[in-house]
Amino acid sequence: MSEPRITRVAGAIAEAEPLGDAALYELVEVGKKRLLGEVIRIDGDVATIQVFEETSGVGLEEPVRRTGSSLTTRLGPGLLGAILDGIGRPLEGLADRSGNFIAPGATLPTLDPEARWSFVPSIESGATLSSGDVLGTVEERPGLIHRVMVPPGMAGRVADIQQGTFTVSDTIATLDDGSPLRLSHPWPIRERRPMGRRLPGDRPFITGQRVFDLLFPVVEGGSVAVPGGFGTGKTVIEQSLAKYAKADVMVYIGCGERGNEMAEVLHDFGRLTDPVTGRSIMDRTILIVNTSNMPVAARDASVYLGMTIAEYYRDMGYHVAILADSLSRWAEALREIAARLQEMPGEEGYPTYLANRMSRLYERAGRVESEGSAPRTGAVTFITAVSPPGGDFAEPVTQASLRVVGALWALDARLAHQRQFPAVDWDSSYSLYVDGSADWFASEGGADWAKLRTETIRLLQRDRELREIAGLVGVDALEDDDRLVLEGARIAREFLIGQNAFHPHDAFSTVAKTYHLARLLWAFMQTGSEALSSGVGFEKLDLAAVRVAFGAVKTAPPDALDERIAETEQTIADMGAT
Ligand SMILES: Nc1ncnc2c1ncn2[C@@H]1O[C@H](COP(=O)(O)OP(=O)(O)O)[C@@H](O)[C@H]1O
Ligand SMILES: [Mg+2]
Repeated sequence: MSEPRITRVAGAIAEAEPLGDAALYELVEVGKKRLLGEVIRIDGDVATIQVFEETSGVGLEEPVRRTGSSLTTRLGPGLLGAILDGIGRPLEGLADRSGNFIAPGATLPTLDPEARWSFVPSIESGATLSSGDVLGTVEERPGLIHRVMVPPGMAGRVADIQQGTFTVSDTIATLDDGSPLRLSHPWPIRERRPMGRRLPGDRPFITGQRVFDLLFPVVEGGSVAVPGGFGTGKTVIEQSLAKYAKADVMVYIGCGERGNEMAEVLHDFGRLTDPVTGRSIMDRTILIVNTSNMPVAARDASVYLGMTIAEYYRDMGYHVAILADSLSRWAEALREIAARLQEMPGEEGYPTYLANRMSRLYERAGRVESEGSAPRTGAVTFITAVSPPGGDFAEPVTQASLRVVGALWALDARLAHQRQFPAVDWDSSYSLYVDGSADWFASEGGADWAKLRTETIRLLQRDRELREIAGLVGVDALEDDDRLVLEGARIAREFLIGQNAFHPHDAFSTVAKTYHLARLLWAFMQTGSEALSSGVGFEKLDLAAVRVAFGAVKTAPPDALDERIAETEQTIADMGAT
C-alpha cells in the first residue's frame, strides 16, 4: 500500500488517503511539520483527521504517519504543578518568544523525562500483584505521596523490584513474564479508567462558598453545572474553588475562554499559598490551558485530558476536583468539527451525539473504590461552567447538563447586576446531595445545620413573596413581623450568602464561619420576633448596629472571628433594649 498523503485541508480538518486501515481515534502525524491529529472518520480509503494544531502552511500531498495508538497521555509523578495544553504538552516549555504558547508539531512529553524521583517500594520480590495494586511510593510534592500502581490490565508475580532514584521511564520492577513496570504508564484519554466499584457520596466537597456549602452542597464525587450568562460570575466561582476549596488535587481546565483570564490564573496560582498547609497551591494543582485563540480540536481533547489525570489521582485514593470553564466552549468545538464534516446537525447546530457525549463525560465523576487487592477510596468531583448564549438556559448544553448533574448552581444576571455575588439564584438552583452530606455537616458543622439550612431557604422564599406584596402596597403597609423578615433576608443576602471573592478574609469561608453566620441570622430572627411580640416596635430595633456586627463577622480575619461572633451575639441580644 502506498504511503498516506493529505488530499484536503480545511481549518482543523484534514483528509488523507489511503488510510482506510487506520483505527477510529488513532493518533496520526500530519504533514511535514508532523502536526498531531486524530482520525475521526473513515470512509473507504479516506480518513478524516481533526488536527490539534494550526494547519496553515500544511500542503496537499504531504505525508501522514500513523502512530498505532490513540491520543494518550503519560501518567506519573510530575503532573502536579504542571501547566499543559489541551493535548498534554507542557506550556512553559512551548512558549516561544512572540508569546505564542506552542510551536507547531512540537511533541514535548507531558512528564519531564529527565526528572528523577526517589522511589520506595512497598512490596517485595515474589509478591503477586494485580491491576491497581500499589508497588511503592514517590513523594511527588511536599504533602502528596504519589502511589505507583500496577497499570490497568497488568498482573503477575514480581520477579524483581528496586529502591532508588528513577526517571519516569526507568524500569523499577519486572514481572515474571518479563514485563517492565515504571513510575509512569500511558493511558488513552478518551477512555475512562477502570475502577473496583462505585460508592455513594458521603461527605461534602467543602467549597468555602457559603451559598453552596449551606444551601446547595456538593459531595465528593458529585457533579455540578454552573450555567450563567456573560458576566454572572462563572469564572470567579471556578477560580475561587480552584484556589480555596478542599481537595487533595485540583485540575483546572481553561477551555475556550479568553487568554487574558488564563494569564491571570497562571499569575495568581503561582503566588497563592494554601492557608492550611502554607504551601503553594500549585503543589496540588494541574492547569490545562486551551484558550479561545488555540486550536479548536485540542479543546475537545483538553476536557478528556483533565478527566484522565483526575481519575489517575482518584485511583491513588485521593479526592480530586475538576473545574472546567467552560463546557459550552467544548461543545462548540464539537459543533464546529461536526459542521466541517457536514454531519447532520441536531438542535442549534450541535451534533446529534452531544447529549450522549456529555453524559459519558459527567459519568466519569464519582466516588469509587479502586481496582486492586487492597482497594483505595477516591473521588472525582466535576464542577463545570456552562455559558448559554444570552443567558437562556433552554439551550442544548445547559439542558444536557441538567439531565445528568446532581446539583445546579444557576447564576442570575439580575443578581450579578445588583452585585449580589456569587449571583446564585436560590429559587432555581438545587442540590441532590443535601441528604448525602447531612451527617457530615451535623457532626462537623453543627447539630442544627439542617435546620439552619431549611430556615435560611424559608426566609429567602418568604422575602420574595413579601417583596412582591411590598411592591404593591409599600413597605410601610407591612406588619412589623414581615418587615423583620425583609431585614433578615437582607442580612442573609449581604452577609451570609454574599461573598466578595476579592476580600482576603471573605473569599473563603470555613465550615465553622458558615455555621456561625447562619446561626447568628437565626438568632437575629428569633430575638427580633420576641422583641416585637413583647411590644417593642420594629422602628425601635437597632438594626444598624446588627448590620455592622454581621459585616464584621463576614470579613473577620481568622484570629478575630470568635471575638466578632461573640460581639454580634451581644448586639443581637441588645437590639430591642432601648
Ligand atoms: N464573588 C464575587 N465577588 C466580587 N465580584 C465578583 C464575584 N463574582 C463575580 N464578580 C464580578 O463579576 C465580574 C464578572 O465575573 P466573571 O466570573 O468573569 O463572569 P463570567 O465568567 O460569568 O462571564 C468579575 O470580574 C467581578 O467583577
Ligand atoms: Mg468567564
